[in-house]
Amino acid sequence: MPSHSQSVTIIGTGSYAPTNIVTNDDMAKFVDTSDEWIRSRSGIGARHFAATDETTSDMACIAGRRAIEAAGIDRSEIDLIIVATMTPDMPFPSTACLVQSKLMLPNVTTFDMQAACSGFVYGLSVANSMLLSGNFKNALVIGAEKMSGILDFEDRTTCVLFGDGAGAAVLTATETAEKVGILGALGGADGSAPSLLQQPGGGSAMPATNESIAGRQHFLKMNGKEIFKSAVRVMGQASTDIIEQMGYSPEDLNLVIPHQANMRIIESLAKRLSIPMEKFHNNLDRYGNTSAASVPIALDEAYRAGRIQSGDLVLLVAFGAGLTWASTLIRWQ
Ligand SMILES: CC(C)(COP(=O)(O)OP(=O)(O)OC[C@H]1O[C@@H](n2cnc3c(N)ncnc32)[C@H](O)[C@@H]1OP(=O)(O)O)[C@@H](O)C(=O)NCCC(=O)NCCS
Repeated sequence: MPSHSQSVTIIGTGSYAPTNIVTNDDMAKFVDTSDEWIRSRSGIGARHFAATDETTSDMACIAGRRAIEAAGIDRSEIDLIIVATMTPDMPFPSTACLVQSKLMLPNVTTFDMQAACSGFVYGLSVANSMLLSGNFKNALVIGAEKMSGILDFEDRTTCVLFGDGAGAAVLTATETAEKVGILGALGGADGSAPSLLQQPGGGSAMPATNESIAGRQHFLKMNGKEIFKSAVRVMGQASTDIIEQMGYSPEDLNLVIPHQANMRIIESLAKRLSIPMEKFHNNLDRYGNTSAASVPIALDEAYRAGRIQSGDLVLLVAFGAGLTWASTLIRWQ
């Protein structure tokens, strides 16, 4: 009797970035900064900023529709929707609900995933488990962010680093002769120092008041140096742990898609894994850090550029506010 495995594979990807491209030189027109500073410290050359009336769910819908088209399934076949975001259209209802309605998807299990920049990779892990449970067949997982809405353009240390956009993947559960698709996933968190990267105002700890607004508490705040050190550590650990757990070595990887936060963090990951930078797909220079959208945008770009072939071993790895971190190892099918 041939043995069969239950596999969860990515059958379609899509992405979207707003049309308004803001270069470092453009930023330097209204922030005390320079192209040289931003490039040398982060690797960022430009970012996309959404229009004032363009929401996170609008961007999520375009990426989601493109992923469903690429998957070649009918939207009625989607029975699970997860939107990873820390810049939802509003605190509630969830952005995933808004996407469900705007895309005219079925009335199915639908929720937001909040793990900051790790959100999409967390979302893949959750979708993988839910599909493997046998209760769901096709999941739409989206990472979408309107970071420009929470950036403090009076804080040059943070506002130059982030951008807006969305990326999506359709996952399906299938019986395969051998395990393919998502081979394994892990996630972690350390919530002991939330102030390293946070948006302090707007929740139950600091509801909106005139004082909170005047104090600029509704914008993103970050201790860049400390986050940098943590990122180097957890990106390395999340990568080596998943590779080892699945019985591989770093040299087995065909492609790494890391969270696009800082080129120096990605270079240190390459060094830790002892694999060349050519095995990484990076688009930081054109998008900046799009938080939960960064990995799915890069994944879609890499796939459409022909950088991922059937049979390839692909590592997705991310870190973000929390601190959170997550990795997924995929045998692409
Ligand atoms: C933010 C980051 C780029 C700063 O790089 P850095 O090399 O640590 O830079 P520093 O903080 O030491 O700043 C150096 C100087 O540049 C100045 N500076 C800060 N932002 C600047 C800007 N946009 N333009 C010009 N100068 C700037 C600082 O004021 C400081 O000046 P000083 O030495 O006169 O005080 C870096 O720490 C980083 O990328 N951290 C990780 C952030 C991240 O990944 N966040 C996302 C997590 S998901």
